Amino acid sequence: MCGIIGIVGHSNENIQQKLLNGLERLEYRGYDSSGIALLQNNSIVRFRAVGKLSNLKKLLDTAIIDGHVGIGHTRWATHGKPTENNAHPMMSKDVAVVHNGIIENHKELRFSLENDGYVFTSETDTEVIAHFLQRELVNGFSPLESMRNCMNAMDGAFAIAAIFVPLGNKIIAARRKSSLAVGFAEKNCTARIEKAAGDASICGNMCVGSDAGTLSGMCHEVAYMEDDDIVEISEDSVVFFDKNLHPVTRKKYKVHQDSDSAKKGEYSHFMLKEIMDQPTAIRKTLLHNKIDASLFTDIERISIVACGTSYYAGMVSKYWFERFLKIPTSVEIASEFRYRDPILEDNTLFISISQSGETLDTLAALEYVRSNSNCKTVGIVNVKNSATDRASDVVFYSEAGIEMGVASTKTYTAQLTLLASLALCKKEFLLQQLQNVPTFCESVLTLSAQIKQLAELISRSSSAIYLGRGTMFPIALEGALKLKEISYIHAEGFAAGEMKHGPIALIDEHVPIVLLCPNNELFEKTASNLQEALARGKNIIVITDVDGEKKMPNEVHKLVLPNVHSAIAPIVYAIPLQLLAYHTATIIGTDVDRPRNLAKSVTVE
Ligand code: AGP
Repeated sequence: MCGIIGIVGHSNENIQQKLLNGLERLEYRGYDSSGIALLQNNSIVRFRAVGKLSNLKKLLDTAIIDGHVGIGHTRWATHGKPTENNAHPMMSKDVAVVHNGIIENHKELRFSLENDGYVFTSETDTEVIAHFLQRELVNGFSPLESMRNCMNAMDGAFAIAAIFVPLGNKIIAARRKSSLAVGFAEKNCTARIEKAAGDASICGNMCVGSDAGTLSGMCHEVAYMEDDDIVEISEDSVVFFDKNLHPVTRKKYKVHQDSDSAKKGEYSHFMLKEIMDQPTAIRKTLLHNKIDASLFTDIERISIVACGTSYYAGMVSKYWFERFLKIPTSVEIASEFRYRDPILEDNTLFISISQSGETLDTLAALEYVRSNSNCKTVGIVNVKNSATDRASDVVFYSEAGIEMGVASTKTYTAQLTLLASLALCKKEFLLQQLQNVPTFCESVLTLSAQIKQLAELISRSSSAIYLGRGTMFPIALEGALKLKEISYIHAEGFAAGEMKHGPIALIDEHVPIVLLCPNNELFEKTASNLQEALARGKNIIVITDVDGEKKMPNEVHKLVLPNVHSAIAPIVYAIPLQLLAYHTATIIGTDVDRPRNLAKSVTVE
């Protein structure tokens, strides 16, 4: 989940600012600390700072750097606290390294390096890479061979970029199970730069980074490294090698720019902008995904795997697939799925849902299915060309654009829209209803001010309970997750009917309860659960619709949404819960877009 970047600049180009720009785009992957290292006058200079990237920038304000080859890192701490010593790049004498992933056998490697006299200054697993590479150099191996030997010695998942004093102006990068993209400058760059009176920005740079999106502003094409690939990057060439150091070719793709999504515009936070963007994201998702029902021909079972918010989207879709396609569906958290020896029957459609397409647990589950079954694999992703995209037989894209806020909002409702399009593909009338969702969402977004008042109530509490039945149950779970993530208030979602089996003990006159109660086929049942809550509690917010409101008791706070068909209601009801979490967090004053301890893309187990 850390972000790594490496840039080889053109002669006389100082790439410090480009490294920082890249790190800014990578900060979504972690912001516990950051650092850069550059080759300068035949030695390596390194700068590191704890906390957000702004701290590193402050540090660099007073530094005089002139380097045209460098690497950078944003950290999401795994081994060792977020301290300066544990911040990357990690160094040995002639080597600096940035790393994303986990070296599972780092303890034994560390032991052997310490025995050989290498002194460790951090608690990280990454430092073994720096010293290992150094030891190989000392033993007479070239930087490329050193990297190969290091790869052979390491277990785990990793993406690495390194600079070596003896290699000069080049970067060597390698990966296993963690993604790494290589960016290409325009061809014949040097000549073009000369013509453009030394303006090195015109051609882009050869570069490497955790994702193609980060590189998009600084290169013209990208290629994705495969497992155990090693790459040597210089100013005007990129050479890929397999694990035996045989040169290999990797397909190049044109880079995709989405500059609108990367700007906050008039909004105070990306999260608010992304919440407000939802009608557009849903419209685009509907427009670009016309589903061919033959996808489900001969399918007897659907197995869905995902993490976090994507998992909750999968949970909603289970209700849809079973009700509208009559196909038995299971939904599972990816990190559990692959370690329990799942039974993978033929004629199962395996769906992995991942906004980023890079979540390691989800990817590993997909890999497990590919290696152990003949199931057709379907990916639901937001990021094109992501690892899930490349590894799935069939891919559907949510068209939400880049999501900058760590908390998923527009990508969640776009995923739901896509899953609804799949599940409703044989139901013409309901597909028509689905087309109305963006308009309903627009109307819900106008309730923001009212939701802000309700958020006052939640912001005064240290915990909150979210309740729903049927498809509203996973929507309640996601609502609770949103609140936890960005306000740090403890929140739990429960199936409303399950309260009486234990969680009802949590209710007192202080704890706020958010109850999702549309006027659907489960209305009466949910209304009974409301009475049970009212008998014991006081601060109850009911989210209902115009028809439901008429049957609501006076003692509750009501938020009234338009009447919508129950098949599409989950998408619409997700939105007020996002706004509730957002306003609560802004009242409390947390960092909404970069909440503590989280990262947008979770690339470790
Ligand atoms: C949602 O707000 C999260 N930040 C998180 O739960 C996320 O949904 C999860 O990590 C899965 O990510 P993915 O969709 O990119 O696979």
